[in-house]
Amino acid sequence: MPLSDSDEMPRHVAIIMDGNGRWAQMRGRPRLVGHHAGARRVKDIVRACPDLGVKYLTIFAFSTENWKRTQTEVAGLMSLFKRYIRRESQTLYEEGVRVRFIGDRVRLEPNLVDLMDNLELLTAGNDRVHLTIAINYGGRDEVARATRRLAQDVAAGRLAPADVTDETLPKYLDTCFLPDPDLVIRTSGEARISNFLLWQSAYAEYEFIDTLWPDFTEEEFATVLGRFATRERRFGAVPV
Ligand code: FPP
Repeated sequence: MPLSDSDEMPRHVAIIMDGNGRWAQMRGRPRLVGHHAGARRVKDIVRACPDLGVKYLTIFAFSTENWKRTQTEVAGLMSLFKRYIRRESQTLYEEGVRVRFIGDRVRLEPNLVDLMDNLELLTAGNDRVHLTIAINYGGRDEVARATRRLAQDVAAGRLAPADVTDETLPKYLDTCFLPDPDLVIRTSGEARISNFLLWQSAYAEYEFIDTLWPDFTEEEFATVLGRFATRERRFGAVPV
């Protein structure tokens, strides 16, 4: 069976939305203005997915390391997430988007968690596009939390140590409902993965692009996906 996926658009795209702060600073505005502009891009990129054949979109909104930012920025981002959910829930529902969140909810404000839970519930029957939003997410933290749950199952006799494999472990990850990403995009010129989907991206293609997230258009998204379609993916095998 040929392993090449060439001529195919990626089914699952994950995006590290970087560059909001610089975008605002370049305009002499506070960093939060950049995050608000970034949220508008999220709306447009989600809306572009069905026509581009993207079934799963996973976006990195807040990392486990982002708590180190100033209290003003962290509070502003949390308010922005709440505002986005309040304002967009109905549209997301009507447009057939199924929204789910990954990351550790324990440290998040209860009213944000309620909004997240309600949006997941509201859109649970949708299947046109699967939008996964990572909030208080870190790949290492996710693997540690998964391992903790797995160890509890082993200790309770529900799972034998011999059954801990690279097929069982992902069932404990936050992303257990998602296929692995085919393509990971990072905007703003930084070539790092910053603790995003560490396990899941083992065979992903990467695109590091210079555009700052608030300037990332649907047209550029389509161009990046087009480049992916011409690549040959081997998954460790030799070309056939
Ligand atoms: C990184 O840019 C961006 C973030 C830490 C936040 C991402 C959040 C959004 C795009 C807001 C909207 C999200 C949703 C789900 C509504 P940066 O601040 O690190 O930029 P810099 O590297 O230029 O400082």
